[in-house]
Formats: sequence, structure tokens, C-alpha cells
Amino acid sequence: MRPGVRNSRMQRSAIVGTTNQRKAAVTETNPWSAEGYDHHARFVSELAGGVFDWLAPKPGERILDLGCGDGALTERIVAAGASVLGIDHSPSMLDAARERGMDVRSGDARQLDFDTEFDAVFSNAVLHWVTEADLAVAGVARALKPGGRFVAEFGGHGNVATIVTAMRAAAQIHGGEAGLAHPWYFPTPEQYGALLQDHGFTVHRIALIPRPTPLPTGMQGWLATFRQPFFDQFPQAHRAAVLETAVSLMEPSLRDCKGNWTADYVRIRLEARLGPVADGDPAT
Ligand code: BEZ
Repeated sequence: MRPGVRNSRMQRSAIVGTTNQRKAAVTETNPWSAEGYDHHARFVSELAGGVFDWLAPKPGERILDLGCGDGALTERIVAAGASVLGIDHSPSMLDAARERGMDVRSGDARQLDFDTEFDAVFSNAVLHWVTEADLAVAGVARALKPGGRFVAEFGGHGNVATIVTAMRAAAQIHGGEAGLAHPWYFPTPEQYGALLQDHGFTVHRIALIPRPTPLPTGMQGWLATFRQPFFDQFPQAHRAAVLETAVSLMEPSLRDCKGNWTADYVRIRLEARLGPVADGDPAT
């Protein structure tokens, strides 16, 4: 994908229905391009080994992949012997997943309409786009069978803090709206654990995991892929200067002496089961 073309695995999670359906609730609804994702953000699925291990899919299980993207992880779950349904918003991503032979459909993370159907719900790098987290967790709870597990990973508290702070500073310097630097939901484990409990889950494990992430196409590629709306608020003639300010503020922390960029990712990873703690369960 070319820098400047907006796509996102993240946005695909938040809105997984028809494009104009839910503009009021989640404002950034641009669907991802599978090609662009592959170029700028393939690391999202490549670095998902930890949460995949927490899912530990078993043969015969019925699993929902919430925000399946191009199906790279869906395919791994299927290879483990599970029967998987993927949902996503992006038509391009859904096409890519179908090309892999995955069973996928368009859907909305805030309006899941499954009823007691799944042994597990899995989600990677998606739920930070769902600012209405309460709606997403309620839908996951409805979708699971009693005792079913919810295993997810997404951006946690402090995620991309250096990048966000530099964009906020650039907005102040150039007279822009700083709020556009941070449209995401990055909860603490305490915050998200409480939300899960409110919806009838027992939390088995939940943690913040710092994961410095090398950026294959540099910081400009990352910003163009994931935060273009911040720059679009400025007149075209002014955007290069804003970008220059933001990037120069990040540089001392995120660019090494060889010129390689690393984003300051912090993940929140969780496993929760629907229902009360069972005897002998190591629930927290
Ligand atoms: C993330 O995966 O944590 C993330 C990616 C892009 C923007 C924000 C967060």
C-alpha cells in the first residue's frame, strides 16, 4: 500500500458492517486495504504468537475471530482443527480472507448478534478501535457458550505514547486539534478486567506487555497508515511542516543510530471465561 492511503486492521475491528452504518458512534470508518496492510503492518499478525498461544485452539471447537482482517490468524486457528467464523468490516480484507478459503462475513464489533454459539471468541489488534468497549464486551458475552473463553490482545494503557505526545505537541505548535492524535481505547488491566466482570466474565489472566515494534516502512509509513486523519486536519500546504515537527519530536526516542524506527507498543492481553470461577480454576 502507498503511504497516505488510509487503511487499518484497527478500523476494521470497530466497524465491521456496511460503511455508512455507524458513523456517529465511531468516526473513523475507512476500510482497510489488504494490500496496504500487507506492506506496512504485516507485523500485526506476525507478532501475534503470544495471544494465539493463550487461545490454544482445539480440534472441533467453534471459534469467532473478531476483526479477522485478511485471515492470516484465522487460517492458523483453522489449521489447529477448529471451525472458525471471521468477521470484519473491510471488503478488501474480507476478499483476502476468502482467498485463503476462510469463512468470513461483514459485521460490527459493537453489534454482534450471535447467541450462545462459540466455544471461544478471539481478537487480535482490533479492540483499541472500539471506544464503545462496553458494547463489544456485551456482544462477546452473548456470543459465547457458558464457560466459553474470550482471548484478546490490543493496545493497552501507554500504547504508542511517544508517538501520540509528539503529535499532540505538533498540534499545539501548528494550531491544530490535539484530540485527533488519539482516537483509540487503551485501557489498563484494572479497567478492562472490571468491564469483563461487569459482563459476567471471570478473568483468568490479564496483563500489560510492552512490545517495542520495529517499523518496516519507518515512522512516516506508520503515521500515513494509522493516523492520516490527524494530518488531514491541516491545509495541504501545511501538512509537511506538521509532519516534520511531529517526527522530529519522536526521533530521539524512537529512531536508532542506524535510522531504524521502533514504535513504543504496549499490548493488553487477556483470557476470560464466561461465568463464575469453577473449582480449581486459577482465575484472578
Ligand atoms: C496497535 O496495534 O496497538 C495500534 C496500531 C495502530 C494504531 C494504534 C494502535
